Amino acid sequence: MSNPTTTRTEPRRAGQMPGWIIWSQRVLITLVAAGGVLQPFIAGLFVTGNVGLLLVHVMIAAAMVFFGLLLVVATVLSWRPGHGPGRAVVAPVVLLSLILAQSALGAFRVLEIHFPLAFAIAGISIGLATRSWRSGDSRAVAAR
Ligand code: HEM
Repeated sequence: MSNPTTTRTEPRRAGQMPGWIIWSQRVLITLVAAGGVLQPFIAGLFVTGNVGLLLVHVMIAAAMVFFGLLLVVATVLSWRPGHGPGRAVVAPVVLLSLILAQSALGAFRVLEIHFPLAFAIAGISIGLATRSWRSGDSRAVAAR
């Protein structure tokens, strides 16, 4: 007879999460946050005359979408098969949606929303990155 405390559907504790999933999430959210921090500086440079940096602004935006999408995939994997909490998927999905909206607003030059949304994205991604490096079990990470 199976022990009800060790069924396969029971959420794992942080220490049981595969280390590669925890590290993937940490690296990906850090890359998204780095993009969010860089974008205002790049924008400041291209609006003051260095027009070539607009292409860099677009490339960083594309990288943020790419890493944000991978972060959603990694977080889904932390839920199934990782047995982490399903609600953890919400924040990466919201963040990816905001980055996509931000890119569309930039492309259509809706700058009165594009500027403040950039700071919201930077704040959210820095917050998630900080949380990802603080949470999890370093022993589980180190063991893999
Ligand atoms: C998450 C951060 C950001 C993302 C993903 C993002 C993305 C984009 C994208 C995709 C475009 C369209 C570029 C084109 O079609 O040529 C754009 C345009 C623009 N962005 Fe951002 N952006 C971000 C942050 C910022 C910030 C913080 C500023 C300024 C403080 C800024 C200023 C601008 C400006 C002025 C344009 C219009 C450029 C033009 O007139 O051609 N962006 N942005």
